[in-house]
Amino acid sequence: MTDELVPEDLRKEYSKEEILEIERKHMAPAVAHYYEDPVLFVRGEGATLEDSSGKSYIDLFAGICTTITGYAHPKYVATIKWQAERLVYTSSLYSTIPYAVLVKRLAEIAPKGLSQSFIVSSGSEANEAALFMARKYIGNPYIIACLHGYHGRTTLARELSSAGWRTTPESHPSGIRFAPYGYCYRCSFRKEYPECDFECARYIREVIRTQTNNAIAAFIVEPIQGVGGIIQPPPEFFRIAHETVKEYGGLYISDEVQTGFGRTGDKWWGIQHADVAPDIITVAKGFGSGIPVAGFMTRPEIATDYTVTDGFATFGGNPLSCAAAVAVIEIIQEGKYLEKASELGSHFRKKLDSLKEDHKIVGDVRGQGLMLGVELVRDRTTKEPAVQEMVQVMELCKDRGLLIGKGGIDGNVIRLQPPLELTREQVDDATNILDEVFSEIEKNL
Ligand SMILES: Cc1ncc(COP(=O)(O)O)c(C=O)c1O
Repeated sequence: MTDELVPEDLRKEYSKEEILEIERKHMAPAVAHYYEDPVLFVRGEGATLEDSSGKSYIDLFAGICTTITGYAHPKYVATIKWQAERLVYTSSLYSTIPYAVLVKRLAEIAPKGLSQSFIVSSGSEANEAALFMARKYIGNPYIIACLHGYHGRTTLARELSSAGWRTTPESHPSGIRFAPYGYCYRCSFRKEYPECDFECARYIREVIRTQTNNAIAAFIVEPIQGVGGIIQPPPEFFRIAHETVKEYGGLYISDEVQTGFGRTGDKWWGIQHADVAPDIITVAKGFGSGIPVAGFMTRPEIATDYTVTDGFATFGGNPLSCAAAVAVIEIIQEGKYLEKASELGSHFRKKLDSLKEDHKIVGDVRGQGLMLGVELVRDRTTKEPAVQEMVQVMELCKDRGLLIGKGGIDGNVIRLQPPLELTREQVDDATNILDEVFSEIEKNL
């Protein structure tokens, strides 16, 4: 295929101003960009992005924790091109090779027993599907979700998310109940780990006993909350939660939309660090490394009653997305990303811990592998969230060629969830930039 066949309008070198003007005129305001002066990205390679002026950025946010294989990975690009030349789409009413190969490959990397998968296009859809299936299989309407969690933007997924991301004042969650999460830095019970005896996890029992019919369909939880601000409970939280969920007959759903595919290092799935065996895992984001593909993995007996009438989706399991996801799995395996996320993540974590020693604005450093967070506070004693300062940190980092993400209900947590193609040099450069930026901000603190 020659470039000349690509619509000229797409090949044209628009200026940023021209693009922002088109957006102002024609893009619904539901779309908002980071930064006072938004960036227009035109290409990327590895963990580096380039804007329309030719300036390079170290990307520590991967879109939103999505481009796990980085940008323009040769195998990824070749697979997408190869599949596009053959068959971009037919529905799952017909068999296709990419869908079959993908579910086979997922079964190879899934925790033991989760041998059956269902493919959709977004994380919200994956969670909807998993919860519908759980309610139907168990025959109970109650779902427990965690405070500070985020599970998507469809109606049910939104209702499962914490205030701040729910944004539907008219919504009346039916059958959804909330339990605390293991947010040790801001413990709901004002206790200290480990003397707390995991009161947060034990409280799940109270929620079930007082707010359900003494039984539940499912407990849905992220192994590390991403949007919530890279909150990582101790492993015991998940073990106690799992025991309780089983005692009350529910399914344990691990929402691995952000933590899946090796991001947390050493393991394919974040929940494996806690040694808990989930009944369902939901995936998206890094699964397609940018191509929309998502889904759930579960045991055959749970999947049995989930029928085509329950779950059919036009784009679910389309050949192009599935082929891209197969390439992603292979790139992760060949590039030893699990080991890499662990090694590079530990190196990065040490650097961030030393930033905490040097900068009073750093209240807490959290996370595992290449899913790290830095909570910014105005005062370490009161832990007042550094909300405005966070905005300035983002701007100053961008000016110096560093992209970071923002999370937490107060928006004061730096999210570091880069492509796993990141290099050690980039980690060192990024830390130096953060060091410089924190010093700058602290002048006015
Ligand atoms: C943990 C988690 N679950 C689900 C979703 C929803 O995924 P999507 O935006 O693809 O619908 C997100 C998105 O950020 C997420 O972080």
